[in-house]
Amino acid sequence: MQYNVTVIGSGPGGYVAAIRCAQLGFKTAIIEKYDTLGGTCLNVGCIPSKAMLDSSEHFINAKEHFKEHGIDIPEPKVNFTQMVKRKGDVVKANVDGIAFLMKKNKIDVHKGVGSFVDKNTIKVTAKDGKETTITTEKVIIATGSKPTPLPFAPFDKKRIISSTEALELKEVPKHLIVIGGGVIGMELGSVYARIGSKVTVVEFLDSLIPTMDGTMGKELQRSTKKLGIDFFLGHKVTSVFNDGKEVTVKAEAKDGKAIELKGDYCLVSIGRRPYTDGLGLDKVGIETVKGQIPVDDHLKTKVDNIYAIGDVVKGAMLAHKAEEEGVYVAERLAGQKPHVNYLLIPGVVYTWPEVASVGYTEEQLKSSGRAYKVGSFPYKALGRARASMDLDGLVKILADKQTDEILGVHIIGARAADMIAAGVTAMEFRASAEDVARMSHAHPTYMEAVREACLAATANRPIHL
Ligand code: FAD
Ligand code: NAI
Repeated sequence: MQYNVTVIGSGPGGYVAAIRCAQLGFKTAIIEKYDTLGGTCLNVGCIPSKAMLDSSEHFINAKEHFKEHGIDIPEPKVNFTQMVKRKGDVVKANVDGIAFLMKKNKIDVHKGVGSFVDKNTIKVTAKDGKETTITTEKVIIATGSKPTPLPFAPFDKKRIISSTEALELKEVPKHLIVIGGGVIGMELGSVYARIGSKVTVVEFLDSLIPTMDGTMGKELQRSTKKLGIDFFLGHKVTSVFNDGKEVTVKAEAKDGKAIELKGDYCLVSIGRRPYTDGLGLDKVGIETVKGQIPVDDHLKTKVDNIYAIGDVVKGAMLAHKAEEEGVYVAERLAGQKPHVNYLLIPGVVYTWPEVASVGYTEEQLKSSGRAYKVGSFPYKALGRARASMDLDGLVKILADKQTDEILGVHIIGARAADMIAAGVTAMEFRASAEDVARMSHAHPTYMEAVREACLAATANRPIHL
């Protein structure tokens, strides 16, 4: 078995790299240790979490909003078994789709753990212990990441759980304690708060989703409070104990004041760490730094023919970032000159309201000393938002004070996840706030809020405010 390129790991980084390699004429193999392709994203990440978010959103709409729209139905009930089953069906359709794409592109799939023998030889060990050896000119490592445990309370996968178990529960928790108010904590916390769990979020920093623009975290807290979620921000968790029936979480505020929470499940969502176990990196002389595989600006490791992409290297742990890098490396191998604009990788939190951002945050501009101006527009002033009753949220545009170039687009509100693509496009073409403000935006749409915020940023003259 000889290949031009072998990809280890079939997540969005790996499978996209493999497809692009095959498109470019390379004889390509992909190695995956799990039974299904698609990695974290398709199996236990993006896709199942969005399936649960959508189901729970339908439920809360039926329960709380249909009546006002003039739709009378009997009190809806959650059929959690069906909700989880549907999520499983959605995952299956997606992972089967990747298997189809591998076939279509004539990519050989090897199931098992891929481990370096030397820089051109990889051993694949299947579940039944059967070993296969592959020789290859180039290797792309795309082995992804795993949830980070608390150092003093490892996942027991029963009551102290990660996102993986939280997507596979057999019952709706009575009280879900979430440690970490980042992306996973807020998405999965929202799912369970909507379908009847009491949810309490304990976050170390003073803001939710702290890597995003500060305004987004504040607004998200305000909106998700309406679901009944309780927040303990600025709290350091000191112990987590599962007595078999109940989890007790102790935490401390900055002033030393202690809290104690008791719940039936504790979701630990304090970040993810790169995954390289079993890869045999020592056989090729690669050493990880803080768990990550070090790469140069072209995603090449210190070994000439070995590249690494996605969650296992530096940068945002996002599916679309991994995909960009997969395409980048494939095209480099083909002698092309691709480019990834890391500033313009958008970030989205799929709560409701959704949060979506691209470019610099206000905090980053402040600390870099760059002169900027801000334009904001609230959803509640939009005709479209009133029609749908999705009034929570705002658009915030950051633009250079002198040139008016858009430096950041931050949206919290209905459909923000899809709207952010317009921000990426504008910034990729280095549009000014005035450029966007002078473009016709269909009425009535949520995108009008982006235009109005650009009007506010460029000349402080929004029309509808
Ligand atoms: P992964 O998807 O982690 O894939 C790595 C693959 O490599 C795995 O299948 C693993 O089994 C395999 N592997 C590892 N070692 C070996 C080996 N030695 N041999 C063979 N195979 C191996 N991102 C978004 O952009 N949008 C979202 O909405 C989103 N939602 C998420 C929700 C949750 C709950 C989680 C946990 C993550 C979410 N993410 C989301 C993040 C996203 O899933 C990751 O950024 C993305 O999957 C990274 O892709 P990757 O290809 O680098 O690695
Ligand atoms: P995260 O980095 O988004 O959030 C972790 C949060 O935990 C932070 O707010 C951090 O301050 C807090 N924290 C850290 N240590 C803590 C402690 N000891 N006690 C209390 N709080 C603590 O990480 P998360 O939510 O686990 O997600 C992991 C990754 O998965 C993210 O980096 C994200 O890129 C990706 N992801 C992306 C999604 C999306 O794009 N919609 C959805 C889910 C995950």
